[in-house]
Order: sequence, then C-alpha cells, then structure tokens
Amino acid sequence: MEAILIGFMGSGKTTVGQLLAQRLQTAHADLDDLIVQAAGRPITQIFAEHGEPYFRGLEQQTLRQAMQGAGVLSTGGGTPTVAANTTILTHSPIPVIWLQASDATILKRVTGDTQRPLVNELKVDELLALKHRRERLYAAAADLIMPTDALTPVKIVQAITDWLAQPQVHRA
Ligand code: S3P
Repeated sequence: MEAILIGFMGSGKTTVGQLLAQRLQTAHADLDDLIVQAAGRPITQIFAEHGEPYFRGLEQQTLRQAMQGAGVLSTGGGTPTVAANTTILTHSPIPVIWLQASDATILKRVTGDTQRPLVNELKVDELLALKHRRERLYAAAADLIMPTDALTPVKIVQAITDWLAQPQVHRA
C-alpha cells in the first residue's frame, strides 16, 4: 500500500485520496465505503442500530484487511482514536499522512451533513472540542502532517507525491 490518509471529518481524505491514487496510478479505497459494503447498511444505520463501539469494531477489522491490499486508503475521521488502530498504523511501514484543516474549513464542509452521525449528534462547540482532542492522536499516528487550508486538492497531491518520492520514505 502506497499511503494512508487520516484526518478529521471534512478534511478531504476521500477527495485527496482518489486524486492521489490516480496520480500514483493505483487503486483507491475508502474505509467507510468498505465498512458499508461489509455491513450492508449505511454508517448512520450502523451507529443507530448497534452504537459507536460496534462500528469501531467493524472499522478495526476492515482497517486490518484494507492494509493488506494495494493503493491509497482514506480512513474515517475516528480511525486513529482507537488505540489498537494507532498501533497498527504506527507499526506499519506504510506512510500515514494527516490532512490538517482549520476549524473554519471543517465547519464549512460538514455543517448540515446528514450522513455523518457525529455531525448529527454534536453541537458545533462539541464537534470542535472533539476535533481538538483528536489532533494529538492524528499527530501521533502521522508520518507527514499536511496543512491543507491554503491548497487545492491538486496542490495537496503534488506536495504528498513530492514527499513520497523522498528516498527515506518507506512503502509497503
Ligand atoms: C467518523 C468519521 C466518518 C465515519 C464515521 C465516524 C468519526 O468518516 O467513519 O461517521 O468518528 O470522525 P469521515 O471522516 O470520512 O467522515
């Protein structure tokens, strides 16, 4: 696998992941999509019927399987919040890239989104508090911290591919 993208909801993991995969001429996988396929129901329904801990269990299993494959993987915003996932990510030689975005950027992108259970559930200040709590977890799991606010997806992909091309960056 060439790269794994992490970051809060709305940080651009799916958009950048698809573009990065195109650029690297490889496959793109989205962890949320893989979970939805495996569970046969949308994320909102998994949360509503079984709760977040059940979702996190599915997410962990799916992450392990996905990391055996090729290409670029876009994770979910909560993936590095599970200690076991951070362990898997940091112990793997696959480069992990944190797409860092400001509070304003995230709010602009996720406000009103009905497909994300945590956005539905949390008030704005709670969502931002969650983002701030998670930032140190993203930092701990990341090999590259990529600030994205001032960049288009194409520029972000360019910066990532430049970094990946450095000889000291491992691939698996
Ligand atoms: C979550 C983020 C979502 C999805 C689920 C939980 C989170 O993924 O995995 O709704 O805890 O931040 P995106 O970051 O792709 O929205």
